[in-house]
Amino acid sequence: MAFSTIEWADGRIRMIDQTLLPTEFKQIYCDDIASVWEAIKSLRVRGAPAIGIAGALGAVLGIWDSTATTYDAFAGELKSATDYLATSRPTAVNLFWALDRMNRTAAENARLEIPALKARLLAEAQEIIEEDKAMCRAIGQHGMALLDENDTILTHCNAGGLATSDYGTALAVMFSAHEAGKNIRVFADETRPLLQGARLTTWELMQAGIDVTLICDNMAAQVMKEGKIQCVIVGADRIAANGDTANKIGTYNVAILAEAHGIPFYVAAPTSTLDFALKTGDEIPIEQRAAAEVTEGFGKVTAPEGVKVYSPAFDVTPAALVSAIITEKGVARPPYTESLGAFRG
Ligand code: MRU
Repeated sequence: MAFSTIEWADGRIRMIDQTLLPTEFKQIYCDDIASVWEAIKSLRVRGAPAIGIAGALGAVLGIWDSTATTYDAFAGELKSATDYLATSRPTAVNLFWALDRMNRTAAENARLEIPALKARLLAEAQEIIEEDKAMCRAIGQHGMALLDENDTILTHCNAGGLATSDYGTALAVMFSAHEAGKNIRVFADETRPLLQGARLTTWELMQAGIDVTLICDNMAAQVMKEGKIQCVIVGADRIAANGDTANKIGTYNVAILAEAHGIPFYVAAPTSTLDFALKTGDEIPIEQRAAAEVTEGFGKVTAPEGVKVYSPAFDVTPAALVSAIITEKGVARPPYTESLGAFRG
């Protein structure tokens, strides 16, 4: 992409405000940790790897103006900052992974003077960004081997450059195949209630010159039945040790449809999305979102005032429905406890 999804810019964080896309492209600045929390919560920055980066950069912002004179006082401020950021969204494990990494980096460098420690933490956050870029490229390379000439892929939500530092996970597979000269097409689910598919995925794919067709979520079964889809590729917010995968609400529906139509269902994610502490997906915390996102998303009231609403932001696709998990370390196949276990560490 021509612009970074999220980056450090002279003592502040600059990010694309994704709530405004596709009608307005605007970069905004976060000057303090509260605005980073708000940006994550309200999905100005979103997508598991990008949320992790926001957490790491937010932690730096949290201690940037610290006047602490001892390591213990400084480490306490960093811990408060990361504990606060950890309350923004619960499902994407990349956030907690990045926040832990920042606290660990501080502990490993406790001997440094405070100004040097601040610089070391910023370098660590930048390293997370650079690693994420490399992981996305590697996912693209591993994943494109799964695609045949003239394949049409269905994707759900947005797992593109906007959801990562650059290039994406599920979309990385499509970008790589396209760049390698493979003729592919994509169907993008619109992804109610916040329309990440309609607003962001189609925007990214069109910019890359990839043939993309937008459908409403409830059209996927018909499109599959018509033989238009050769495989599904989605991203992930958290993958348990057994391969159960949390991703945007509606992903599980798509996996069931893919199974019913004999279509391979692939998950693409960096190993920072693997959560080996959880044996199965039953333990993955599922974020609940505000009713207004369903009843008056994007300003128009579409339900009677006072109607009861249930709005989980994610669902968990059982590993049995996942044909393969594409990571930067290679493609894992069932049984996932073994194949993903080999990627540990
Ligand atoms: O609520 P969002 O927009 O943050 O949800 C994003 C997704 O579900 C993505 O598919 C997932 O984070 C993978 S991003 C590479």
